[in-house]
Formats: sequence, structure tokens, C-alpha cells
Amino acid sequence: MTGLSDKVILITGASSGIGEATVRELAATGARLFIGARRGDRLQALAEQLGPNIAWRELDVTDAANFKAFADAAEAKFGRVDVLINNAGVMPLSPLAALKTDEWKRMIDVNIHGVLNGIAAVLPRFVAQQNGHVVNVASVGAHLVLPTAAVYCGTKYAVWAITEGLRQEHDDIRATIISPGVTATELGDDISDPQVAAALKDWRQKSLTPDAIARAIRYALEQPDGVDVNEVIVRPTAANM
Ligand SMILES: NC(=O)c1ccc[n+]([C@@H]2O[C@H](COP(=O)([O-])OP(=O)(O)OC[C@H]3O[C@@H](n4cnc5c(N)ncnc54)[C@H](OP(=O)(O)O)[C@@H]3O)[C@@H](O)[C@H]2O)c1
Repeated sequence: MTGLSDKVILITGASSGIGEATVRELAATGARLFIGARRGDRLQALAEQLGPNIAWRELDVTDAANFKAFADAAEAKFGRVDVLINNAGVMPLSPLAALKTDEWKRMIDVNIHGVLNGIAAVLPRFVAQQNGHVVNVASVGAHLVLPTAAVYCGTKYAVWAITEGLRQEHDDIRATIISPGVTATELGDDISDPQVAAALKDWRQKSLTPDAIARAIRYALEQPDGVDVNEVIVRPTAANM
């Protein structure tokens, strides 16, 4: 295990759920964390609670310029950038026939473009310093498809492929896919179809708490530079999908 106290770690989607749990888990390591999401009030409260090693800035991952400014601000604050955790995501599930094309677009914008914008914001630095680690939060939905989840799973298959491509293209940059199973968070609170919202409530009967995913992320980060944990899939023990 390698200590993280000299690392500067960027975390997106830090205002709730898995992102917030990851901030709490990594804060305990002494790492310096630069955390982003759109709800600045939540980030501010979290940073104030956890102390001076945590800094925050509002971030919309769909905006490439905003993401670059986020990474620049992290470097200005802490002097370097070592790790990006692309965690922000949305999941407004619906059947394709409902033609909720705005929701399809939002998932593609946040879940795919958001990840790519993050990679673009840090990759030149990582190449220049011949070191860096990108952790992308995908899903069990990067391995299986369910009705109502066609577009969401499509975005997560894409995250899986992009991460694997990044890994293959660089000898000195680590790339990790974290694939959570059902986890109790705010994800899907914006589902607009009442039947699908009810089905999600049912799936959540067997769910992890977000700290389980945070520990998997910490495990990947704490490996030595020469060890790249390619993927961790974490499901509730009782899960059947
Ligand atoms: N929960 C599960 O069962 C589950 C399972 C598999 C994978 N995942 C993945 O885990 C990741 C985290 O989700 P979660 O479960 O923790 O859900 P969550 O509680 O809803 O958190 C999602 C986070 O993404 C942020 N976000 C959404 N749109 C954004 C944008 N345009 N720019 C910046 N941040 C944005 C939200 O912050 P703001 O609204 O403040 O911007 C929030 O902090 C997602 O990638 C999700 O797909 C979750």
C-alpha cells in the first residue's frame, strides 16, 4: 500500500452519494482533495467539515472549459494534480418508446462527455509529468443491459471502453474502472416515469451504502505506481444482477 498524503486528488460529483463518501474516505488518508459538482452549498459544507486539505469549486462536467478551469484551480491551490476521479453521473431511466430524448441527451452529456472533458483537463499534465491516475465510475450497467436502462447502460459501456483505451495508450498513467452495483444514493431521483421510479425503489431493497464503493476507490489508489487495478465490480452480496 502507498500512502496518499502527498497526492492531489480531483473528485467530481462530490455533493452527494458515492462522491461524497469518497471525499470522506480519502480525507482520512491526508490527501489533498479538490472537489466539484454544481451544488456549491453542499461542497462548501463538506469542505468546512473536513478541514483545510479539502478545497471546492462549482463544476459542470458537461462544460469542457469549466472542467479545465477546475483542474487549473486545483493546481493553483495545491501545486499539482495526481488523480482524477470522474464520478459525476445521472440516471433518468425510461423505456426507449417513451422518446425522452432530452433525458437521453443529458445522460450522454454528463456520463460520457463529462468523463471525456475530465480526461482532457488532466491528460496533458499527466503526460508531461509521466504519472497520473484516472478513476472512472462506470456501473454494473457497463456489463449488462436491462429494459428502461438502454441509454444509461450505453453510456456506461462507453465509459468502460474509454477507460480501457486510456489504459492501453499509456505506460505510465493508470486507468481504473469502478463498477458499482445498486447503491443507496440520490441517483435516479429525477426519473420522470412513475412506474420506473417504483421499480428502482424495488431494486434498492438490496443495496450497498456508498462507503462500500469509496473503499474500492481507495484500494485502487493505494496501490504502488506500477500496479494498475483495471476494474473493481462491487455488488451487494444478495444481488442477483
Ligand atoms: N447509485 C448506484 O446504484 C450506482 C450504481 C452504479 C453506478 N453508479 C454511478 O456512480 C456515480 C455517482 O452516482 P451516485 O450514485 O453517487 O448518485 P448521486 O448521489 O445522484 O450523485 C451524482 C453526483 O453527480 C453530480 N452531477 C450530476 N450532474 C453533474 C454535472 N453536470 N456536473 C457536475 N456534477 C454533476 C451530482 O452533483 P450536482 O447535482 O450537485 O451537480 C452528484 O454529486 C454515477 O456515475 C453513477 O452512474 C451509481
